[in-house]
Amino acid sequence: MSDAVEIYEVGPRDGLQNEQHEIPVADKVAFVDALSRVGFGRIECASFVSPKWVPQMAGSDAVLAGITRAPGVRYAALTPNMRGFSDAQAAGADEVAVFGSASEGFSRANVNAGVDEAIDRFAPVIEAARSIDLPVRGYVSCVVDCPYDGPTDPAAVARVADRLFAMGCYEISLGDTLGHGTPDAIARMVLAVREVVPVGRLAGHYHDTGGRALDNVDASLSLGIRVFDAAAGGLGGCPYAPGAAGNVATEALAAHLERLGYATGLDLAALNDAAAMAQRMRSAAGQG
Ligand code: HMG
Ligand code: MG
Repeated sequence: MSDAVEIYEVGPRDGLQNEQHEIPVADKVAFVDALSRVGFGRIECASFVSPKWVPQMAGSDAVLAGITRAPGVRYAALTPNMRGFSDAQAAGADEVAVFGSASEGFSRANVNAGVDEAIDRFAPVIEAARSIDLPVRGYVSCVVDCPYDGPTDPAAVARVADRLFAMGCYEISLGDTLGHGTPDAIARMVLAVREVVPVGRLAGHYHDTGGRALDNVDASLSLGIRVFDAAAGGLGGCPYAPGAAGNVATEALAAHLERLGYATGLDLAALNDAAAMAQRMRSAAGQG
């Protein structure tokens, strides 16, 4: 039997949060519904953040209300604070995610708080989620470098990952937010983090600005990581990481993993349909 690798789909969140034009809720719902036919166990499709900060994610409640939920799929939402958590809970999110940073500059730009202050703000969110058995994922951004502070020390990534894991996040997603990571830098970082968080609880979240995301996946596979975030159609970026390109494209990652002999459990034809839809949304917004 082949080794299994899970792809955690982030297109409707990390992808669409960065589109310059407003995407109608109906299109977002259709995109999530197309992804629900692919066979993912988890799809991140909402973000309950301030619409002043990320207007593209306004209407996340309507997206969660509009989708047709497929059995066995968990629909996830970003929740930076208790306001976001309450809204996510009311909208029926199946899991939530808090998002910290390994670098001060990005943390301040992204959530208006330093690294430790942001983590302190996540504590009540994690506690509230756990009290109702809602799984909480933890992101660490800028695991290789930061648009404001330059290269990131792997020890800083390990420190934040350790804190989020100890607070109760069931999985820590390691974000190469800028997408400039190389396999060597990713390997140094993963080696540091897996000293403090079991490797089975880590995920790789690699943006593909430098075209090395699949190489970075390979470096992570060789160190034991078996979960990777990806966005259908390679959508995305981060509004607070200028110049960053989208996540590694789900269809490219799935094909790559299958070639290497890893089972993803995904329906590749259905995935191609969803990726084509992502591309059409991008073109409709004038970016294709
Ligand atoms: P703040 O300005 O410090 O917060 O922002 P505040 O409490 O002073 O509130 C400011 C305004 O936002 C107030 O409204 C609040 O009510 C409202 P006003 O009184 O001015 O009318 N507000 C909210 N509205 C809706 N939902 C909420 C909420 N909270 C406050 N939950 C805050 C702090 C965290 C809110 C802000 O900085 C924010 O929303 N940041 C989100 C940034 C973001 O979403 N970034 C992209 C996601 S992270 C990412 O992409 C990286 C990742 O993919 C991994 C990787 O690639 O590295 C995960
Ligand atoms: Mg990201």
